[in-house]
Amino acid sequence: MQIFLTEDYTSMCRKAANILSAQLIMKPESVLGLATGSTPVGIYRQLIEWHNKGDLNFNGASSVNLDEYQGLSADHPQSYRYFMDTNLFDHVDMDKARTHVPNGLATNAKEECKRYNGVIRAMGGIDLQLLGMGHNGHIGFNEPGDAFELETHLVELAETTIQANTRFFEKKEDVPTHAYTMGMKTIMSAQKILVVVSGEDKAEIVAKAFAGPVTPEIPGSLLQLHPNVILVGDKAALHLLMEQEEVQ
Ligand code: F6R
Repeated sequence: MQIFLTEDYTSMCRKAANILSAQLIMKPESVLGLATGSTPVGIYRQLIEWHNKGDLNFNGASSVNLDEYQGLSADHPQSYRYFMDTNLFDHVDMDKARTHVPNGLATNAKEECKRYNGVIRAMGGIDLQLLGMGHNGHIGFNEPGDAFELETHLVELAETTIQANTRFFEKKEDVPTHAYTMGMKTIMSAQKILVVVSGEDKAEIVAKAFAGPVTPEIPGSLLQLHPNVILVGDKAALHLLMEQEEVQ
């Protein structure tokens, strides 16, 4: 695993955006696996800035997002499709028809999972997958204890995840309880994985995921088995991991 330690959130975003843009420059027709959440927001902002300057094009690329809440429409302000449109796609020259997010309103969950797996396969797999990490070690919505061998599936969200998401909704009852997520099997089959973490509140889980045992209780720990992982994090998020690495 390659680790980039940065001073703060801004420099973390810049480094991660550099890696994503290097991917697009070297392979304009890349399939990007993308994530939502608060961590990538500054990364997308940086990519948009470079695009506006004329330094970066997305017109050959395709994307596939990690996850989507079940029950939310594409134009719901808390849906992940809406997040991606407003934080990235609406501002760059990527063909929207080639941006994919699970359909939160699909009536048949099993069929939707099958369809989404088909979309990823038809694109020839993911070249670079961007990932954040939840406080409980979740990746996408693969929660602790989820089977490692799954492709896209519907999950019941952990109570801690529902709690963490409550801040985005008016009342707790509005927070979706289920979500579609790419499974760890799909994520692990990406050619390259870029994990981004920021803030002291991630320090403990990052150290456990990358320096502790590989266990389904910490889905992120499975990434230790991937041959091409890049971890980009600020000091606050990486200091415990770096201390452990020094001891070993
Ligand atoms: C988002 C996703 C989640 C987040 C994770 C970290 O698509 O799949 O796993 O990456 O919850 O979220 P933030 O970045 O808000 O700390």
